[in-house]
Amino acid sequence: MNTKVNLAGVELKNPVMTASGTFGSGEEYSEMIDLNRLGAVVTKGVANVPWPGNPTPRIAETYGGMLNAIGLQNPGMEVFAKRDIPFLKQYDTKIIVNVCGRTTEDYIDVVERLGQEPVDMLEINISCPNVKEGGIAFGQQCQSVEEITREVKKHAKQPIIMKLSPNVTDIGEMARAAEAGGADAISLINTITGMKIDVNRRTFALANKTGGLSGPAIKPIAIRMVYQAAQAVKIPIIGMGGIRNAEDAIEFILAGATAVSVGTVNFWNPYAAEEVVSGIEAYMKKYQVEDIKDLIGAVR
Ligand SMILES: Cc1cc2nc3c(=O)[nH]c(=O)nc-3n(C[C@H](O)[C@H](O)[C@H](O)COP(=O)(O)O)c2cc1C
Repeated sequence: MNTKVNLAGVELKNPVMTASGTFGSGEEYSEMIDLNRLGAVVTKGVANVPWPGNPTPRIAETYGGMLNAIGLQNPGMEVFAKRDIPFLKQYDTKIIVNVCGRTTEDYIDVVERLGQEPVDMLEINISCPNVKEGGIAFGQQCQSVEEITREVKKHAKQPIIMKLSPNVTDIGEMARAAEAGGADAISLINTITGMKIDVNRRTFALANKTGGLSGPAIKPIAIRMVYQAAQAVKIPIIGMGGIRNAEDAIEFILAGATAVSVGTVNFWNPYAAEEVVSGIEAYMKKYQVEDIKDLIGAVR
């Protein structure tokens, strides 16, 4: 049985990775699951300098999911390189670093700095709905998606994954723009902009007013978008949005994803990522699937 997948020249032992921002760099989770079992760990977004994030409250539970407006709080590149990369290097899993920035120069700064580090791929977050500049501002127009992809690609030593926003009208167009700019892969979906009002306090549940919706509630939208992106481009796709178990992951793979990221579920089931790996193996055995590649995009 072969569970290996190839993401732009990087071979993963299986298609299961973690979704940025829901797993730290795996330190806490490593006490509960074996990181060696995962295809890759995707880190929380890192910027060139520390970011404090948004004021609190910045998370709220919703039916079938959660809203967050963390605002990409992170310790900055220097601390990250000293602390998180050596931690992850202890494991036999690929390291994918999620990169955030406010300007094109910010992204380039981080990407160039990461060029000197032993990381396998870079995931460029141009789709965070919770930061005013940068983030989603880059991710909602085709032309800017293509331009930022081209600029980042020029400076990147590792293959780049462009992380797309679902807060757009035509996801196929965005996927094509990333591909035209030279992206090695795309990942989707980031969170969907939402709002919750606290009726007792008669105010917004989040200090930021709006936040990004994630979790099982968004899965059908994510599946539809992965399918549409897979019809639009040839580069590999990493699918995510509401995955809870292996069945959900396989749905993404059948829709066209080469790999999948396990996100919000980590907060209520820290064993989920490893369970998805075992569950995919069990599914392949049950249906006598010799090679996982036979499942990728099998539903057209
Ligand atoms: C608390 C939280 C923090 C997140 N931080 C990041 C981040 O730093 N960079 C990023 O690209 N996506 C970030 N995301 C988005 C997730 O990686 C993922 O795209 C999204 O949550 C959908 O997957 P899920 O429904 O399985 O969580 C974050 C999501 C959550 C819930």
